Amino acid sequence: MDLSAKIFVAGHGGLAGSAISRRLAARGYRNIIIRTHAKLELTDALAVRAFFEAERPDYVFLAAARVGGILANRDHPAEFIQVNLAIQTNVIHESWKAGVKRLLFLGSSCVYPRLCPQPMKEEYLLTGPLEPTNQPYAIAKIAGIEMCWAYNRQYGTRFVTVMPPNLYGPGDNYDLDSSHFLPALIRKTHEAKAHGASDVEVWGTGTPRREVLYSDDMADACVLVMNLDKERLGVLFPDDRPPLVNIGCGEDLTIREFAETVSRVVGFRGRLRFDPSKPDGMPRKIVDVSRFSKLGWKPRVGLDEGVRLAYEDFQARLKSAAVS
Ligand SMILES: NC(=O)c1ccc[n+]([C@@H]2O[C@H](COP(=O)([O-])OP(=O)(O)OC[C@H]3O[C@@H](n4cnc5c(N)ncnc54)[C@H](OP(=O)(O)O)[C@@H]3O)[C@@H](O)[C@H]2O)c1
Repeated sequence: MDLSAKIFVAGHGGLAGSAISRRLAARGYRNIIIRTHAKLELTDALAVRAFFEAERPDYVFLAAARVGGILANRDHPAEFIQVNLAIQTNVIHESWKAGVKRLLFLGSSCVYPRLCPQPMKEEYLLTGPLEPTNQPYAIAKIAGIEMCWAYNRQYGTRFVTVMPPNLYGPGDNYDLDSSHFLPALIRKTHEAKAHGASDVEVWGTGTPRREVLYSDDMADACVLVMNLDKERLGVLFPDDRPPLVNIGCGEDLTIREFAETVSRVVGFRGRLRFDPSKPDGMPRKIVDVSRFSKLGWKPRVGLDEGVRLAYEDFQARLKSAAVS
């Protein structure tokens, strides 16, 4: 991507989109186009068409989505499938019509089958039943991957999907009704400490294993993908397979270990109280990063540092009332 290229970051205000925008700005890209949700409703096909016709971006990072944890997925399954299908369909289709050179669609590791072998390789896509707690969301994401592949085959586009594990970092969602497990742990542990509580509640048994990636590392990997030359892009995304690649840190921990890390960073000395009546989700989730690692990429931010940075951001946003 040329530094003057016109780059649309869809969902720039979110956890992933803000990290991508920061990374692009830090790398010297000076023609980044953004629209708030209020200014451009991406589920509105006509509005998205008008936007692409007017702006004609060269590159698109598609980081806008309806995202949430187990509770939000359970309570809003219709929104998770409808909103995500609509956003993807509109942005991918209009990107093709506007002649976008490359589009990067953010997928998610939850598209892999619930009981597929771990670590999860790209080729396990569509090889078994999905985790029921987020199936509508996962099916929307799978449709997005297929749509990129179909457009590449029929129209010769270069639309690719990057599959990160759970992300965390500045600008995360700390609303306990819709947040992912790590920001939820940060918030609950912070509040337990602030109220002098003797324990903090942790959902589930604490035994499921999860992998996380700091959002700025994810953004670095995405910008790298968009900058690959044609040959290396072709090696990473061969034409005869769905165009997806896993990114991650290559290590997983139990929920208990995450909770212990958060307690350490927050300075909470109380007990962890596990609530097994709450759903655990998939027993283990870690992506196989061997394909992407061949590019020599590694994340830079370790868990302790990442949680510390996320906690600092959470505290700053509490003070500025950006988190209620
Ligand atoms: N968070 C994770 O752990 C994680 C892990 C793997 C993959 N991903 C992927 O990364 C992508 C972004 O996730 P995220 O965590 O950054 O989500 P997020 O923080 O909730 O951000 C999503 C962004 O999309 C915008 N948006 C949502 N619906 C929209 C609509 N209808 N029209 C226009 N804008 C809309 C939101 O704006 P408003 O807030 O104003 O609605 C927000 O700026 C998703 O595709 C997700 O699958 C995330």
